[in-house]
Amino acid sequence: MAGTNGRFITLEGGEGAGKSTQIRFLADHLRRQGIDVAMTREPGGSPGAELIRKLLVEGPGDAWDGTTEALLMFAARRDHLERTIRPALARGQWVISDRFADSTRAYQGYGHGFAHERIEALYQLAVGDFAPDLTLILDLPVETGLARAAVRHGTEHRFESLGQVFHQRVRDGFRAIAAAEPQRCVLIDADAPIETVRDRVLQAVTQRLGVG
Ligand SMILES: Nc1ncnc2c1ncn2[C@@H]1O[C@H](COP(=O)(O)OP(=O)(O)OP(=O)(O)O)[C@@H](O)[C@H]1O
Ligand SMILES: [Mg+2]
Repeated sequence: MAGTNGRFITLEGGEGAGKSTQIRFLADHLRRQGIDVAMTREPGGSPGAELIRKLLVEGPGDAWDGTTEALLMFAARRDHLERTIRPALARGQWVISDRFADSTRAYQGYGHGFAHERIEALYQLAVGDFAPDLTLILDLPVETGLARAAVRHGTEHRFESLGQVFHQRVRDGFRAIAAAEPQRCVLIDADAPIETVRDRVLQAVTQRLGVG
């Protein structure tokens, strides 16, 4: 548990799963309940971490191996946690993050084969005894997600370029994480119209955190 006045919610899932879309719905919904919400994202979410994001999400797919990528992700995560997430929670805000540590477990761990115990060792070092109160994992077929992500504009295509087989391992990884940590995680079927996924997200938040 985040262990503060606020709550820490993370949205996870592969490319084009609908994380950014659903975070906006969830934030609007919580704000209508009078909750003070801070939206953030990874990699990034603080000035220092956004600098690292640029290295991670642009350029060729093979720019870094899984180990280097995991180290950069946790360096960014540490800064994000200390400069953005913890201060917001201490102010009593509910923080919703577009990706967090499960993305490192899924992409660098399951995707690139970086050893899980090493990821957990880095987690201990960078994050310590802190975890999301609730993690919503948006699940859908790889092809559907990649097709949705392909229409997104901009230069942040590094992970999309890694291919179907890589992304299938990522999807399987997210599903394994949800199965291994059912108290923290809810697996949401995101292969449905936006409004249906929104209802599933709001239902999960209501059930787990008692709002809505
Ligand atoms: N349930 C849905 N059905 C169809 N299209 C969707 C759905 N959810 C989101 N989209 C569309 O798919 C695209 C990707 O959605 P979104 O940006 O929310 O995904 P994301 O998980 O944040 O992706 P990324 O990993 O690339 O950041 C957007 O154009 C969005 O409008
Ligand atoms: Mg997004």
